[in-house]
Amino acid sequence: MTKTIVIAPGDGIGQEVTPIAAKTLEIFHPEWTYIPVELGYEHYQKTGIPLSDDVLLTMKESDAILFGAITTPPSKDYGSILLRIRKDLDLYANIRPIQAPGIDIIIVRENTEGLYSGIEWREKDRACTVRVVSEVATRRIIRHAIELAKKRRGHLTIGTKANVLASDAYFYEIALDEISKDTDPIIHTMQYIDALVLDVLQRPTRYDVIVTTNMFGDILSDAAAYLCSGLGMVPSANFGSSYHALFEPVHGSAPDIAGTNRANPVAAIRSAALLMQYLGDSEGAVYIETAIQNTWEAGLKTKDLGGNASTTEFSDEFLRQLSALVQ
Ligand code: NAD
Ligand code: IPM
Ligand code: MN
Repeated sequence: MTKTIVIAPGDGIGQEVTPIAAKTLEIFHPEWTYIPVELGYEHYQKTGIPLSDDVLLTMKESDAILFGAITTPPSKDYGSILLRIRKDLDLYANIRPIQAPGIDIIIVRENTEGLYSGIEWREKDRACTVRVVSEVATRRIIRHAIELAKKRRGHLTIGTKANVLASDAYFYEIALDEISKDTDPIIHTMQYIDALVLDVLQRPTRYDVIVTTNMFGDILSDAAAYLCSGLGMVPSANFGSSYHALFEPVHGSAPDIAGTNRANPVAAIRSAALLMQYLGDSEGAVYIETAIQNTWEAGLKTKDLGGNASTTEFSDEFLRQLSALVQ
């Protein structure tokens, strides 16, 4: 059956890595319809609109979205459109796999509230952001994490600052209640997020699924990317309460290397693999990973991995390897 996929490269290296991820999808699924859209800060500078209602509607009507990255400058007048997309499509579960030889962790990040509640204001001599932890949002993210852990090694870590924040004490309380609903409750531990970040880096094999609030999940996932050799490697999926789903690398628009043909496209390519898996094609991910490994073994590694290959050199060889495998 045909599917409609929105391709949203966005800004900076998003424009360099997303086309390769899109080509990866096309190799497996030429029958799908691909709709390229423009959005982001560069689009805002050209048109005055970072995200049009039309583009948002196209996303809502699609089967899945392949997203690159967007630039969000620190400004009181310009808000992140990615947050708007996540909220409008109710993409509440941000799944960030941290996988490397001998390491297999999934970070489940609540994606709609916490410190990203959007409830904030400025006063004369201070600015305030309200950290919201609601029962509904907590129950659904904990349930998502429990179900994921059950399909894996059956262990759930809850990352909080429940010792200090009333909002996190609530998150933990709801988590325990949700866990206790199962007749055979999952093995679970709670760890304070500061100590957890270090322990994940030092003893990664202890972890299976980690669930946490929005901002903590954001920080934990960038730190944990260290275990995978950096941000160029880590994909993510954002799942919603309905069929909406968005797939994107964990990294941003990387203005420091944008336009220099140095970006590692692996995180974007792996995001395409997650998209295919979501739409029922699990076999494709195995071919994609094999083609990535073959490309590295052929000596083509990007600079972040200690190699000399440009984005284009890596990508040409990767697509060649992939086409050969798929034939
Ligand atoms: P970043 O993830 O863009 O970059 C952090 C560092 O990692 C940089 O040194 C960069 O060169 C490197 N890096 C990132 N991806 C890489 C890749 N694929 N290959 C090689 N190196 C890579 O984070 P930042 O610099 O803090 O933010 C830059 C902009 O991106 C900001 O405007 C920020 O708001 C935005 N951002 C967007 C997203 C998103 O769209 N999902 C995520 C994070 C940051
Ligand atoms: C991410 C990014 C975003 C976030 C920004 C760009 C809004 O850092 O996807 O990890 O904080 O969620
Ligand atoms: Mn982030």
